[in-house]
Amino acid sequence: MRLFFALWPDDTVRAELAHWSRELHALCGGRATPPGNLHLTLAFLGGVEDTRVAEVERAAGEVSPRVVSLVLDRPGYWKHNRIAWAGASAPPPELGAFVAEMREALRRAEIRFDAKPFVSHATLLRDAREPRAIPELAPIEWRLSGFALVQSVTLPRGSRYEVRRSWSA
Ligand code: 2AM
Repeated sequence: MRLFFALWPDDTVRAELAHWSRELHALCGGRATPPGNLHLTLAFLGGVEDTRVAEVERAAGEVSPRVVSLVLDRPGYWKHNRIAWAGASAPPPELGAFVAEMREALRRAEIRFDAKPFVSHATLLRDAREPRAIPELAPIEWRLSGFALVQSVTLPRGSRYEVRRSWSA
């Protein structure tokens, strides 16, 4: 099954991200992430054998979730993959440290994941046009108190992300 670790927003943060998505969509078009799928990826595992999921969960249990405050105050656009996203101008160092710890636990357990450096962002739009100017949007205050193991379920019309398990501080 296709798995990744993510920060999974509560309803308030989700609604705020959806608002950013609508504002950006008006400028860039593209395909919006369905609100129920909005998240911030910590580590992307990709295809995992069913028999190894317990090992993935055990590895996750070795990292201690902590309470961290993340302020998403930076809408952005990447030309290379035509993605518009929500990011942080000052990601808290604790978040970087947490992701490093999680990835180390995955390495120790020999669980493969995409080793691209972590850049905290929530994808809002795909196949989006470059906006002429990045709009000002009200910052989103996200109190992180845990993380989730998420499964990407392929449906005839796109994917649906389902939280399999979560760990909280
Ligand atoms: P993206 O939003 O920047 O594309 C599920 O696919 C989530 O995992 C997405 O948030 C996606 O990031 C992220 N991800 C990270 N590395 C990935 C990879 N190699 N393939 C697919 N998704 C990846």
